[in-house]
Amino acid sequence: MMKDGSGSAAAVVCCSVLILLISSAGFCSGGVTSRFVRKLEESQDMPLDADVFRVPPGYNAPQQVHITQGDYEGKGMIVSWVTQDEAGSSTVTYWTETGKKKVANGRITTYKYYTYKSGYIHHCTLKNLQHNTKYYYEVGTGQNTTRQFWFKTPPEVGPDVPFTFGLIGDLGQTYDSNSTLAHYEKNPIGGQAVLSVGDLSYADNYPNHDNVRWDTWGRFVERSTAYQPWIWTTGNHELDYAPEIGETKPFKPFTHRYPVPYKASDSTSPHWYSVKIASAHIIVLSSYSAYGKYTPQTQWLQDELPKVNRSETPWLVVLVHSPWYNSYNYHYMEGETMRVMYEPLLVKYKVDLVFAGHVHAYERSERISNIAYRIVSGDCRPVNDDNAPVYITIGDGGNIEGLANNMTEPQPEYSAFREASFGHATLSIKNRTHAYYSWHRNQDGYKVVADSVWFYNRIWRPYD
Ligand SMILES: [Fe+2]
Repeated sequence: MMKDGSGSAAAVVCCSVLILLISSAGFCSGGVTSRFVRKLEESQDMPLDADVFRVPPGYNAPQQVHITQGDYEGKGMIVSWVTQDEAGSSTVTYWTETGKKKVANGRITTYKYYTYKSGYIHHCTLKNLQHNTKYYYEVGTGQNTTRQFWFKTPPEVGPDVPFTFGLIGDLGQTYDSNSTLAHYEKNPIGGQAVLSVGDLSYADNYPNHDNVRWDTWGRFVERSTAYQPWIWTTGNHELDYAPEIGETKPFKPFTHRYPVPYKASDSTSPHWYSVKIASAHIIVLSSYSAYGKYTPQTQWLQDELPKVNRSETPWLVVLVHSPWYNSYNYHYMEGETMRVMYEPLLVKYKVDLVFAGHVHAYERSERISNIAYRIVSGDCRPVNDDNAPVYITIGDGGNIEGLANNMTEPQPEYSAFREASFGHATLSIKNRTHAYYSWHRNQDGYKVVADSVWFYNRIWRPYD
């Protein structure tokens, strides 16, 4: 009996160990799929009479004020705004706490889109600014209504210069969008500039791409965009390509409204360019421009990557709209052709981080690459690679199209963390080796971190 009993006990233990091994092997196949429970309801655009869309008072008052870096190194700032009643002045008056007032003259552009006629869109570049300095500026100078704002220029570019970026994607103009922006603004980490990974207004979801929704979006985000530079990436909702109503020039509203300093990085298009900010070199790519061999974007990227001086800007960050690594059942593999074209370059030049949007959820990858595959080889799986970037999808700004909450199962090995919630992220570069990254879901308090990781620089500390 004893013998029989111990035999069956041993069999039970063996079975249990086997079951444990099998189940743990299955569990370990991927990273973390967050089980955070959130209310599932439609994301609704805020109505036209919402507070955040209010037109500023006063005749011809400047509205939709936004700034972006105006040169390669952060000594320039492009100030943009719209006047609705008449052209008015494109002059910006600006000054420091202690300095004299200076003026810069800008330019005006307008455009028509189907039956919509834009207001007067002003762009004015302030040049030769001092680094790390607070500037006040006034728009509407010399006309009926003036408005005053301020910004702080980035510190001088250098290898150990700390800087904190906000990361926002696919924002739109819903109540959730408003929550995302409020959470970013109140995040005590204190973002100094926003890296926007595309899909801004979602005006194209309205009949005939009602460009009034480009105006409301501009007024909605002004509370942030007038005070710190947003670095713009184009998404599919910036295309506004609508041949059925005779609108065949891609990116027409976006390019009239959101200028970028592409010429400073020897680009020939506002859809791909780079800027240096503090210790980071930011490369912006376009998912919706040609990226095949011999195309202008590819040629520019091939020329740009060798120019990056990691002794000056250790952190190399790429922004693109459509993610290359995405385990949600939305836009699945849409980024695949661009990944095939550009991933070997990014690994060769040891890019630290790639941020994308497009998928309305959050996902962070392991440090992986998938560049071994050739048509005659079978090596087509992502593998751990210390030279590769981490890929982060941050398309969770909260637009009208709602959450992407359907994931491929099981979670792929390369996917470290994923969650279908709206939110934003921040990247705090500390020095040439360390950067603290955190993601914040809208349902939590402003200080709560839902996912975080220390990133180590690929040149100066190339192991995790
Ligand atoms: Fe998109």
